[in-house]
Amino acid sequence: MGRPQLLVTRMLPEEAMEALRNLGHVDLWEQDEPIPRVVLRNKIKAADGMLCLLTDHIDVEVLADAHRLCSLSTMAVGYDHIDINACTERGISVGHTPGVLTESTADLAFSLLLAAGRRVVESADFIKAGLWASWSPTLLLGQEVHGATIGIVGFGRIGEAMARRAAGFGMRILTYHSSPIDAQALGRYSATQVSWDTLVQESDFLTLHVPLTPLTAHMIDGAVLRSMKPTAMLINTARGGLIDTEALYDALTAYTIRAAALDVTDPEPLPPNHPLLSLSNCLVVPHIGSATVATRTKMATMAVENLSAGLRGIPMPNCVNPEVFRS
Ligand code: DGY
Repeated sequence: MGRPQLLVTRMLPEEAMEALRNLGHVDLWEQDEPIPRVVLRNKIKAADGMLCLLTDHIDVEVLADAHRLCSLSTMAVGYDHIDINACTERGISVGHTPGVLTESTADLAFSLLLAAGRRVVESADFIKAGLWASWSPTLLLGQEVHGATIGIVGFGRIGEAMARRAAGFGMRILTYHSSPIDAQALGRYSATQVSWDTLVQESDFLTLHVPLTPLTAHMIDGAVLRSMKPTAMLINTARGGLIDTEALYDALTAYTIRAAALDVTDPEPLPPNHPLLSLSNCLVVPHIGSATVATRTKMATMAVENLSAGLRGIPMPNCVNPEVFRS
């Protein structure tokens, strides 16, 4: 291959842009909004490599136009926006960015937990609305965080980082994971692996840290919400599709659970008139889990490294479908 043609679907930190320009000819979608599907389908025809974002849906239809593509790299740890099997069938290697966003995502998840528990945003809005008359014994009472039970769904990198933070707050730590967790890892945080039902029923704060797959889609539905404590709070920094949004709206309006704090939603973004945004017990932020300068720079750099390896036909440092390199 001569100088490869690279499709890049959003402007990245300059460090990464420079590395991309050294790698090949860059066709950059310069606007700060997702590349329209029709444009993506047209541009992908000429691409040898593509660096995409989680807002780009790379499905069979798009891949049908990807006649030359051999290396696809997403600037995200989650890859539910890519049809991996279809990529593998076409010999396209897919890279992602695990590890580098673990701590920043756990920081955000824990800040949402604190904000929901202590009603931080509601309280700030209360003052801005000119409603604060005096200190009151009953004003804006929240839930204790220290000593409360946290239920961590998924004890992977980010789940474990949440446990580390929760241990510092003296929380009782329960976790649900699809396979047995190493006893040493649990022991580090005095965490207990429990059944799904126990986790849901006993958690004061239920926090989601699993990928979105057909098995996890809508894992939080009406029945689950009804079996949570009425004082419980739901935190989601993973993927919006893990929660049945309508069921959550019903649970929050009926106070089946006390509150939710969401970094991710379904749909995403939520339209400004979405009913969830009208609720004072639902805090929504715009998918900013990894949004720090340092983390986003690391993610972009890692995505370029994956792209580069894929173009050269050598194993990507972080590959979702390494079998491509074995065939
Ligand atoms: C990811 O990488 O999958 C996050 O959701 C965005 O940082």
